[in-house]
Formats: sequence, C-alpha cells, structure tokens
Amino acid sequence: MANFADKHKKLEKNVTLLAVCSLVVVIIGGIVEIAPLFWIDNTVEEVEGVRPYTPLELAGRNIYIREGCYTCHSQMIRPFRDEVERYGHYSLAAESMYDHPFQWGSKRTGPDLARVGGRYSDEWHVQHLVDPRQVVPESIMPPYAFLKDRDLNAGDMSGHLRALYRVGVPYTEEAIEKANEDLLTQVDPFASTAELEERYPKVQVRDFDGNPDRLTEMDALVAYLQMLGTLVDFEAGEAQEQPR
Ligand code: HEC
Repeated sequence: MANFADKHKKLEKNVTLLAVCSLVVVIIGGIVEIAPLFWIDNTVEEVEGVRPYTPLELAGRNIYIREGCYTCHSQMIRPFRDEVERYGHYSLAAESMYDHPFQWGSKRTGPDLARVGGRYSDEWHVQHLVDPRQVVPESIMPPYAFLKDRDLNAGDMSGHLRALYRVGVPYTEEAIEKANEDLLTQVDPFASTAELEERYPKVQVRDFDGNPDRLTEMDALVAYLQMLGTLVDFEAGEAQEQPR
C-alpha cells in the first residue's frame, strides 16, 4: 500500500504528469459518453406511430417554446409508479426523436405535459390559457389570453420543415413543399384532408380556439397540446412494460 501511495505522490508532485494522466482519464470518460451517439440510429428504438409534427403542431410548439412553457412544465414521464399512475405510460425515447430541441424540461411547477393530449377538451384548454384560475382556482399559472387575439404568423413552414429535415427528421419532399397549405388545412373542417392524413397519421383536423373565422396563435398551441402523447398506442401491448 505504501508503495502505491509513493507512486501517487510522484503524480501529485509532477504537474505535467498529473495533467497528462488527468487528460487520459477525461478522454476515457468522454469516449464512454460520446461513442454510443455515433450509433444513435440503433440507440433509439423506433416505435410504431411516432411521426414528425404537422406544420400547425410545429407552429404551436414554437409558441410553447417562445412563451417559456418549459420553465414550468416537463415533457418526460419517468418510469416510476407515482408518475405512471398520474400521467400515463412513461415516456419512450422514440417519442421525442423528432424534437429539435427536445422539451423534456427539468422543472415541474406545473404537471408533466407529455401525455396531456386528449385529456381535456379544446374549450378547456382555451379557457385555461386565457385565465387559468377560471378552471383551476388554486392555479398559479400565468394567463396567456393574448394568444387568442394574435393572428398566427408562423413564417415559411416549408423552410422550417426543410431545416428539420436536414437534422434528420424524415419529412418527404412533398410534405416540405405543401407545408404552408397543410398548416391551413388542419384548421379547416371543410377542407379535404386525405393527403394531410396520409402524411401525418392521427392528425386532428378542426378549429381549435373556438373562433373559426381566424387562425390564431391559440389554434396552433392547442393543436400542439392536443397531440402530445397521442401517437403511440400503448393499449396495443407491445410497447407496454411494467413500471418498477
Ligand atoms: C409559472 C409556471 C407556469 C408556466 C410558465 C406555465 N404553466 Fe401551465 N401550469 C402551471 C401550473 C402550476 C399548473 C397546474 C394548475 C393548473 O392546471 O392551472 C399548470 C397546468 C397546465 C396545464 C394542465 C395540465 C394538466 O394535466 O392538468 C396545461 C395544459 C398547461 N399548464 C399548459 C401550459 C402552457 C401551454 C404554457 C405556456 C403557454 C404554460 N402552461 C405555462 C404552471 C405554469
């Protein structure tokens, strides 16, 4: 043992040797963390049902990010019984594989939103966002009533989809070209939706904010909230595992 301590003393007293050895240790640690990412395609298992966001959902997601909803809400259900019983099946890596940036979050002032889609009606969401205390009296969530009065100005969604395509989201050339039309189709109950549905299975088409005359930021945000966690069918069995 004394022998080992002596050797270590040498290391402690020789700055260059210490630096070199520290570097080696850091490199090993770095490789262990970074190397699996080179095989990210096998690291994230694909799960049936997960698809890229529709242009409208994406626009809503941008508002979610712009308004900082992630500062109070996470989107990652951990595999513990208390979470699974409250929020539903724990989140799978594949469910956020098309998120750039992902919205897992690290703060839960409010509840996790990973599976909030379909839990409430559109009207509930609109009312809650306009004045949270109207529907949840003890809520401390800030109001976002202005979203109802602001026209959705999403910008060029084709460019947005193309950018995501470049980082690996599998939008087809057609989806990219028709992105701006698809955005409008999703809020138009009278539009023909066959193409949209083919591109984006399980897409929800309707007016979301209760005002069919206008396309507002509220439409986009509610469309986004209503799709969260709805893509994977956990009843189908395969994806299901028992929480610890
Ligand atoms: C200051 C923290 C805070 C911010 C910012 C915030 N929320 Fe919340 N949110 C809460 C709290 C607390 C609750 C629980 C009480 C309630 O339902 O209002 C909540 C509840 C919710 C719920 C209901 C979830 C459920 O399962 O019952 C939704 C949906 C929601 N927030 C969406 C949003 C969106 C969208 C934004 C951004 C536009 C946002 N929140 C911003 C704190 C926040």
